[in-house]
Amino acid sequence: MRVVLGVSGGIAAYKAIEVCRQLVDAGVFVSPVLTDDALRFVGKTTFDALGSEPARCSLFDDPTTPIPHTLLGQNADLIVVAPATAKLLGKYASGISDDLLTATLLATRAPVLLCPAMHTEMWEHPAVRQNVETLRERGVHLLDPESGRLAGGDIGAGRLADVDRIVARVLAMLDENSIARDLNGFKILVTAGGTREPIDTVRVVTNRSSGKQGHAIAEAAASRGAAVTLVTTTTRPTDAKIQVIRVDTASQMQEAVLGVAANQDAIVMAAAIADFRPVAPPERKIKKSEGLTSIPLEPTHDFLVELGERKAAGQVLVGFAAETNDVIANAERKLKGKRLDFIVVNDVSESDAGFEVDTNRVTILSADGTQEILPLMSKTAVADKILDRIATTLSVRGVQPSA
Ligand code: CTP
Repeated sequence: MRVVLGVSGGIAAYKAIEVCRQLVDAGVFVSPVLTDDALRFVGKTTFDALGSEPARCSLFDDPTTPIPHTLLGQNADLIVVAPATAKLLGKYASGISDDLLTATLLATRAPVLLCPAMHTEMWEHPAVRQNVETLRERGVHLLDPESGRLAGGDIGAGRLADVDRIVARVLAMLDENSIARDLNGFKILVTAGGTREPIDTVRVVTNRSSGKQGHAIAEAAASRGAAVTLVTTTTRPTDAKIQVIRVDTASQMQEAVLGVAANQDAIVMAAAIADFRPVAPPERKIKKSEGLTSIPLEPTHDFLVELGERKAAGQVLVGFAAETNDVIANAERKLKGKRLDFIVVNDVSESDAGFEVDTNRVTILSADGTQEILPLMSKTAVADKILDRIATTLSVRGVQPSA
């Protein structure tokens, strides 16, 4: 993890030395960047010694590259500026890049954390307030100053946030980012929704699955960087990054899934696929006058079994089980019988979990015999729990991203 530590010119610059040391101790690669004014308070040599590489102070003094700001900005996982003076906030908010630090801030797409420090009058000045709001609106993170003793003995708001808080916030942001990208380049196939099996050309046999859980998994996987294919029976809107294949019946879903399964790094079968379908539905509407007292059914093919048999090396296969009784015993049987890596079980007899609602209460059973009983949570949170398992398994198996 690479962090640019920007230091601008305020009395609190001496605390940046400790921020630098603690981040390096935590295993972060720290590139210090000091403004000319910062050098009036602290020495470059200190940051040369404590940072992961020599400190930089100018756009023009780097013999190795004429574009230090773009290299620093593009390579950074995060930029933290501590202390951030009123001048730094003003220049950044206005897009002025007249030194290495402000140029780096404009040349990055990495998250930015600003830790302002200044006198109370300056912090409360409408110009500074406006700059802070502008930066917040643009997605810049701010760790507000604390109240306390300021330079010259004054007391008030404006003191740089505590060093431990700055370091903790930086590490937490790096952590969120690494989770956000942990499926980068992996191909993940997700199925969602209940299939619809025709009785005739207007009537169907279906089930109560809404597709919400499957869609939540697809969305979360895409936002964690995976190349997602979603085979779904629903018309729910999805993120443009997701490749959607719309199907209706179990056999259409089977064809779509088996067609792309072989080169997927993980497959999550969240769809509620019909176990039975009407035999030979007519290609017309059955008239009321004909009478219909029974609908002969035939079993569909359980293609999750087939996916288990054909599983590619390293591929992670996740099934779902909707149960109303003997929940865990039934799920364990499916986990083994279908050769799954994980099975996500929900008791669909509960009203706040399972079909149609936005929450779910699931247990994840693993092929290695472990059980994770999760409390009631949003379907998005359940999605992330399942994806955490997939990401860890892919990493343990040494699977490289294929997309
Ligand atoms: N599944 C499948 N093809 C089917 C039926 C189910 O691929 N024709 C998949 C589902 O997507 C799910 C898993 O199998 O991931 C378990 O589905 P479920 O209906 O709970 O289990 P069944 O094996 O059908 O067993 P039962 O109906 O006896 O509960």
